[in-house]
Amino acid sequence: MEEAELRALLVTLAVSLFARGYSVGSAGNISVRLPDGYLMTPTNSCLGRLDPARLSRLDAEFAHVGGDPPSKEVFMHRAFYGARADAGAVVHLHSTAATAAACLSNVDADNPIPPLTPYFVMRVGRRLPIVPYYRPGDAAMEPAIAAEARTARAVLLANHGPVVSGRTLTDAVYAAEELEEAAKLFLALRGAAVRTLSPAQVDDLLATFG
Ligand code: 13P
Repeated sequence: MEEAELRALLVTLAVSLFARGYSVGSAGNISVRLPDGYLMTPTNSCLGRLDPARLSRLDAEFAHVGGDPPSKEVFMHRAFYGARADAGAVVHLHSTAATAAACLSNVDADNPIPPLTPYFVMRVGRRLPIVPYYRPGDAAMEPAIAAEARTARAVLLANHGPVVSGRTLTDAVYAAEELEEAAKLFLALRGAAVRTLSPAQVDDLLATFG
């Protein structure tokens, strides 16, 4: 996809996320890989009101080379691109249910949300670990996220929110949406006797749909 199309698509997807309440205020940030660098949402921008011409342009080393100054979470995004050759885009949200799951202390921090539905597994994968809390914008989160991102397409930042990668911008947004729905189901079903997908069913989904 050409850069102009990617700029337009990023704005369209961000507006859609904002309109449906996946982000509020200036929360959240989105990036997409280009052949020679990255596009990223500017810091303090509202996902509902982005200007395609003012998106931050970063070079391959994540230096700011055009547009408005980038998200303070550039380290969060860099962690995924560095750890996962298949990551073509990264979406960070403060979506309510996923953030609620990231605040729970009595869960398996290695994989708190069980495989309840096929699309959660297909989009988010086998593992969604919780990364310990870091102040927003703290560069120290980069190695902590990268260590998990080698074996996880997405993470939950403790007391902060989800970070999701995808092969394409659309894939990353779809995965962020499925994660939020899975977190809603997880919270709604807490304490209930649930039937999760079996390991064999999870293997089958990942073998069939990647
Ligand atoms: P930015 O406005 O710098 O992208 O930060 C928003 C955010 O979601 C912090 O985690």
